[in-house]
Amino acid sequence: LRAHYGIDAPYVPVVLGLIGVIAVVAGVLVSATWLIGVGVVFLLEVAVYLQTTLRGKFRLWDKLLDQLALSGDERVLDLGCGRGAVLLAAARRLPRGKAQGVDLWRSVDQSGNGEVATRHNAEAVRVLRPGGRLVLAYLRYTRRYAGYLREAGLAGVRSRTLGPDGWFAGPWQAMSVVTATKP
Ligand SMILES: C[S@@+](CC[C@H](N)C(=O)[O-])C[C@H]1O[C@@H](n2cnc3c(N)ncnc32)[C@H](O)[C@@H]1O
Repeated sequence: LRAHYGIDAPYVPVVLGLIGVIAVVAGVLVSATWLIGVGVVFLLEVAVYLQTTLRGKFRLWDKLLDQLALSGDERVLDLGCGRGAVLLAAARRLPRGKAQGVDLWRSVDQSGNGEVATRHNAEAVRVLRPGGRLVLAYLRYTRRYAGYLREAGLAGVRSRTLGPDGWFAGPWQAMSVVTATKP
C-alpha cells in the first residue's frame, strides 16, 4: 500500500558512484589530491541525483500540476507514466475526473518499472472517499499493511484474525483482517 516510485535511469547513479569511488581510492593510493577531488565531485553528483529522483521531482511536479489549476473533473493522460509518480499526483487532483497513464515500462528508464508497480502505487487509500472504510483480508502481511495504512493517515486501524472459518489447512494459515477509515 505504501507507494514506491523507484529511481529514474538507475544505471546513472551507479556509474557515477563507481567512477567517484575509483577516483577517490586511486587518488589516495597515488597521493593525488586532484584525483580525490574529482572523485568527491562524482559522489556529490550521486547525492544530488538521488535527492532529485527521490524528492525533488515530486516537489517540482506538485508545483507544475498546481499551476494547471485543474478544476477536478478533467481527463489527464500521462505519457511515460513509469511507476506512477506524476500520474497519481495528477489523479489526487481529479476527484471527479480521470487520470490515465501509458508506458513501455522500460527498466533502463526507472528501477522496478512495470505495470504491476504502477497499479500497486494506485491502490486503496487514494480511491477511498473521506469517511470511507477499508476492509482488507489476507493470510499474511496484515500487520505490515496496518502499519502502512497508519502511515498513510487512515484512522482506527485495527487488525484481527478471523477464526476457524478463515483457516486454510490450519491455524498456521489463518486469514486476518485489517479495517480502517479515511478521515
Ligand atoms: C524517467 S521515467 C519517468 C517516469 C515517470 N514519468 C516519473 O516521473 O516517475 C521515463 C518513462 O518513460 C517510459 N518511456 C520511454 N520511452 C517511451 C515510449 N516511447 N513510450 C512510452 N513510454 C516510454 C519509460 O518506460 C519510463 O517509464
